[in-house]
Amino acid sequence: MIITIDGPAGTGKSSTALAVAERLGFDFLDTGAMYRAVALEAIRRGVKLDDTRELAFVARHCRIAFDWGKHPPGVLLNGEPVGHLLRSGETTRAASYVAVVPVIRELLVTEQQRIGRERGNIVTEGRDQGTVVFPEAQFKFYLDATPAERARRRVAQLRARGEIVDYNEVLNQIVARDHRDATRAIGPLAVPPGATVIDTTTLSEGQVVDKIVATVKGNPAK
Ligand code: DC
Repeated sequence: MIITIDGPAGTGKSSTALAVAERLGFDFLDTGAMYRAVALEAIRRGVKLDDTRELAFVARHCRIAFDWGKHPPGVLLNGEPVGHLLRSGETTRAASYVAVVPVIRELLVTEQQRIGRERGNIVTEGRDQGTVVFPEAQFKFYLDATPAERARRRVAQLRARGEIVDYNEVLNQIVARDHRDATRAIGPLAVPPGATVIDTTTLSEGQVVDKIVATVKGNPAK
């Protein structure tokens, strides 16, 4: 069974998808980590982020894999565990360049579909999982929240890490990123047909997880 969870950044998709996977005994596929791993490799090779041909070359010549024995699954780049390196500001920024290159999206989409076939039961999380990668998924969810709430969560997260941040700046970045994500040519962020939309603005993560698990358990697989 495949369960897709899509939505913009700041809706708690990753932690929600991981918790749902835990509750159901499914594997958790973090597709953003794959774009981030390509970005890390590009940074290591000193590739310019606007050089789409070089970025595509890097993506073709690196090996990204998951260690399914770990929870959450470990991310391996050419065999090296890199999970702890993928969430830095530099990698996050580079990933947003990597994610707009059509050839790279094709490569990673094919790989995600292969993982889905191989693992069988997965909760997969990203921007295009229910629309492009697994349109036949049994259950599709789309998490949303107001930009103001997502900015508030992001600011709290960064401040907890000791960073000094300005709320309005974060909000402007979120609005700009939403626009880029929704208007890109391939795999744009969109609500998949037939998806259950959950507005998380006033919900705790636990409440969102409960809703998803209840929907899945209450509706036998098609
Ligand atoms: O979800 P995330 O923040 O880890 O995603 C990292 C980047 O990859 C971000 O720029 C969005 C992009 N992405 C994507 O385009 N498609 C996906 N399925 C997952 C992530």
